[in-house]
Amino acid sequence: MTDILSLIRQVPNYPKEGILFYDITTALEDPIGLKTIMDTFIAQFKDQKIDKVIGTEARGFIFAPTLAYALGAGFVPVRKPNKLPSVTIGVNYALEYGTDRLEIHADAIQAGERVLIVDDLLATGGTAHAVTQLVSQLGGETVGFGFLLELDGLGGREKLAGFDCYSMITVP
Ligand code: PRP
Repeated sequence: MTDILSLIRQVPNYPKEGILFYDITTALEDPIGLKTIMDTFIAQFKDQKIDKVIGTEARGFIFAPTLAYALGAGFVPVRKPNKLPSVTIGVNYALEYGTDRLEIHADAIQAGERVLIVDDLLATGGTAHAVTQLVSQLGGETVGFGFLLELDGLGGREKLAGFDCYSMITVP
């Protein structure tokens, strides 16, 4: 398999001093890299009878629609506050300093639907955990999570304990 990690550009001190940023755009712009990433996600989830694939703003939007298409599922965006036009429900979640909020259309998931949540990165797990709260408020079932990259040691996997949590690449 193509070494996806070698296609991901590592940018030191972005967005602030001391942070090493994994820039996935370089893997996406490589045709083989993009195909390998999407084929791997599809193979991972093809037998799970997924009804809806959620992508979380912003980089979850890169993967979720294509994955949904390939799985014969629908795509649902989870967005930052006040971006969705119709009736929404939202959840506030803690950041290192302060709180953030994510919203979903209230009619985007039907009771009993099997939902897959996709994002580029699992770090602390705060974002993904918040999204699964939205799914459960709407009566959906979170079947699992799919991440391109997992940063080990930040507690994300522990925060999502009990869920099927797939990361294509884990970095220390
Ligand atoms: C990043 C990433 C995930 C989240 C992971 O998004 O794309 O959504 O952080 O971090 P966590 O596991 O600690 O919650 P970001 O908040 O930078 O938003 P963006 O995609 O809109 O830039």
